[in-house]
Amino acid sequence: MLHVNENYSKISPTYLFAEIAHRVAAHEAANPGTRTIRLGIGDVTEPLCPAVIEAMHRAVDDESRRETFRGYGPEQGYAFLRERIAEADFAERGIAVSADEIFVSDGAKCDSGNIQELFSQDARVAVGDPVYPVYVDTNVMAGRGGIALMPCTKENGFVPSPGDFAAQGLDLVYLCYPNNPTGAVATKGQLQAWVDWANESGALVVFDAAYEAFIRTPGIPHSIYECEGARKCAVELRSFSKTAGFTGARCGYTVVPDEVFARDSSGAKVPLKPMWARRQTTKFNGASYIAQRGAEAVYSPEGREQTKATVDFYLENARLVREAFAAMGYECFGGVDSPYVWVDVKRPSWDFFDLLLSRAGVVTTPGAGFGAAGEGFARISAFNSRENVLEAVERIKKAL
Ligand code: MLT
Repeated sequence: MLHVNENYSKISPTYLFAEIAHRVAAHEAANPGTRTIRLGIGDVTEPLCPAVIEAMHRAVDDESRRETFRGYGPEQGYAFLRERIAEADFAERGIAVSADEIFVSDGAKCDSGNIQELFSQDARVAVGDPVYPVYVDTNVMAGRGGIALMPCTKENGFVPSPGDFAAQGLDLVYLCYPNNPTGAVATKGQLQAWVDWANESGALVVFDAAYEAFIRTPGIPHSIYECEGARKCAVELRSFSKTAGFTGARCGYTVVPDEVFARDSSGAKVPLKPMWARRQTTKFNGASYIAQRGAEAVYSPEGREQTKATVDFYLENARLVREAFAAMGYECFGGVDSPYVWVDVKRPSWDFFDLLLSRAGVVTTPGAGFGAAGEGFARISAFNSRENVLEAVERIKKAL
């Protein structure tokens, strides 16, 4: 008899953003003719920039001619893109990451969910609380229990410190900075402490840098590899989704350095790069040629200028949201080096969510959806048009 994977019964039956979409649909059905403004899921609204569009059009033309047509591409990603990434995202910042350590994918969500497959079932996992739900859910689906939650609070500036968890025998720690959902950033010293701890304890850091393009404060690390020793203990996830509007086009990448390893049951070192290559070549056929040509264009002079302008536009939205809530007397965090504003809403998160949805027709994300320590907060996304953000702010002021 076929049995189901009962670990699925240990996670919420609906993914956070599916639950929100369900509530929004019910609200819209009950209020026909009203216009809902979405500041919930972090989905971009501004179109792909002209440099990317032109590159994608050229790629479509390539696909239309026998001589330039591409079928399956390399599972690890085309060299033209991996070499641009190695140069622009790392070498230009003085970081050593080679093109063959970069694995292009169809986005950071899949990679952040899949990376745990490389580790044993008894790996002791730790995540921040609140946290992007994918890290937790994918580990629970794989049968890992006892996930350690590291509270990210006002008191610690939403950055947990390894010293507080050193006694717990952690093996695999997920860090995300700029943080989803709190919008907090980690200083180089704070990240270095995690790297030093991981190297001393034989743990691995999975560093999610999907929001690095939003960093404007000088000195805040864009990559974990800015820390000494990180090549031995960290993999890094990156995405073109928020950087360049690829939530629909789909492209991201993961860096697995040659030096990073875990151990087998005999205690021998096993490098992770060949394992990740084996996993990807078996289960993934590569991101589309068209998406990869578009991603390559993000690094052209025009692409850099245009994508930066769009990120600046969202950051200005974030400032408007943050200042509006602050003016209403709410304590706000994030929204400076991040598209997310994290607001202390002084009441249960889902009550606040329902209140704004019903009274203002504005969708937010309840902090409690990211974990118990998110209770009492709301995450407001800056991904929308200026017109919608301004209108949402006015509606929220009236509703509150
Ligand atoms: C979010 O809203 O947290 C993100 O859009 C989710 C994601 O990137 O998968």
